[in-house]
Amino acid sequence: MAEPMLELVSIDVRYGAVPAVRGLSFRVAEGEIVGLIGPNGAGKSTTLHAITGLVPTHAGHIRVEGKSIVGRAPEQIAQSGVALVPEGRRIYADFTVEENLRLGLAARRGRGQLAEAYELFPMLQEFRRRSAGALSGGQQQQLAIARALVAKPRLLLLDEPSLGLAPTLVAEVFKTLARIREQGVTVLLVEQRAQRTVALADRTYVLANGELRTTLGPADAADTDKLVAAYLSG
Ligand SMILES: Nc1ncnc2c1ncn2[C@@H]1O[C@H](COP(=O)(O)OP(=O)(O)O)[C@@H](O)[C@H]1O
Ligand SMILES: [Mg+2]
Repeated sequence: MAEPMLELVSIDVRYGAVPAVRGLSFRVAEGEIVGLIGPNGAGKSTTLHAITGLVPTHAGHIRVEGKSIVGRAPEQIAQSGVALVPEGRRIYADFTVEENLRLGLAARRGRGQLAEAYELFPMLQEFRRRSAGALSGGQQQQLAIARALVAKPRLLLLDEPSLGLAPTLVAEVFKTLARIREQGVTVLLVEQRAQRTVALADRTYVLANGELRTTLGPADAADTDKLVAAYLSG
């Protein structure tokens, strides 16, 4: 069997003496979209930061396509094909849309171009000469996702891409994620929108207090009682 794109084996992450993630294990296979949901403070962002090397793990293993990445620098992990769209759409407001995308190209292995990003996000082509700060919140989120994608990652990590967006824009973000899946990019999606995430993802892990509480499948998306119970139990 092929190695999973991403494998976490019993990882612990602490900030000082405070445990943020405890004994967390899960796998993401190539081509999957996997969701990671749970209340504020559950350890979702910490998990993404551990995978990208931004915070150290205290125990356990993280492997990308079978290779351990524990102890590697964030740049090395990015080079191995892992890209993070951080919470809060950190685009460069004073640069144009196109300049922001070119910064994404800098992380790409080999030659790159922007045509695919513009194909996926026609709005970005239309506004390519505008300063990124002039875009709406939803458009900035598309830019942040496009900037990560131009680096041609094998594994795309997203931290709450729908945070702070109006409902119609939230729907746009989820449509975009479905299109990214069609392109074969493997996605680990951290979200607060539990129902939409469970409906989209091949599998969704529910975190609470840094631990894996339960695993949900698309069929659970319509089961509001089950979603609420997954958040509230224990
Ligand atoms: N930089 C940090 N320093 C200290 N504690 C932190 C830091 N970042 C997160 N935490 C704590 O770690 C726990 C998990 O946080 P986080 O991963 O941000 O959760 P989530 O993304 O699920 O809301 C929380 O208790 C939070 O207060
Ligand atoms: Mg978070």
